[in-house]
Amino acid sequence: MPLHARLADWPRRPGQLPATQRPARVLLADPGRFDIAEVQNVHMAGADGRPRRVDRSAARRQWQALADAYRSGGVAVDVLPAVPGLPDLCFTANPSLYLPLPGGGGELWLARMTHPSRRPEVEQHAAYARARGYVLREMPARVTRFEGSGDGVVHPGRFLLHAGIGARTERAAWEALAAAHPELDILLYALADERFYHLDTALAPLDERSALLVPQAFDRDGLELARAAFPDAIEVPLDEALRFAANAHCPDGRHVLIQRGCARTEAALRERGFTPVPLETGEFIKSGGSVFCLKQAL
Ligand code: ARG
Repeated sequence: MPLHARLADWPRRPGQLPATQRPARVLLADPGRFDIAEVQNVHMAGADGRPRRVDRSAARRQWQALADAYRSGGVAVDVLPAVPGLPDLCFTANPSLYLPLPGGGGELWLARMTHPSRRPEVEQHAAYARARGYVLREMPARVTRFEGSGDGVVHPGRFLLHAGIGARTERAAWEALAAAHPELDILLYALADERFYHLDTALAPLDERSALLVPQAFDRDGLELARAAFPDAIEVPLDEALRFAANAHCPDGRHVLIQRGCARTEAALRERGFTPVPLETGEFIKSGGSVFCLKQAL
């Protein structure tokens, strides 16, 4: 049974699982139409409850610096063009989930977006995948909420998936993935705090043993599972977690692209031998996303 919601029911550890390859490419999307048109999560509302205002030219500069950081780190970058009417398209973590398979290659699973306004983004990912020859997979019709790698976080180098259940993804999605891949271990986490509405706001894998982890986002069972899967986890202080420190991305097991100004998380990373690459993503944080949300690794 590949789904595990409690540590007592998970007999294996990452080192015993089939090896997979880390992706060396990311898919980004041009932020030319980025905006906050409706409040989809608690981060998107200002003090008056209305959508926060985005500075689109600042967003463009921040996004460009992110793309440059990937390229100078040796990661290939593909870019979806901006599409009128799709203000969240730049958050490429959500409309799909790339699952690397043992033995090489992988599958791109198309999402079922919670908000109707984001549903057309999925077709943009599908078209990209078809053009590049990726294997496309779809959830069965009964799955209505599945937000891709926002809630499905791949364990580096192992056939293991960390799977959030909450506002954006339902358990049925992980059951469908489990049925398609009986060899895949899937660890289920009930998301316990609306500020951490996607698993990727609270868990950022670094290497096979390490991750950035936000304890407040999990219930007891989930926290126990995450600590067992990542025995060298770095626990992020809440104030830095709320500045999206745990929405970082480590493409190579060493460099960590992370929101600027999270000094204690950066220090902890350096102490463990990682190299933080601080980037400003403040315009995107207004929409509830930082580095991890802005890419699909595939
Ligand atoms: N405004 C977007 C939403 O609420 C932000 C998505 C951020 N992505 C993420 N993987 N956390 O859907």
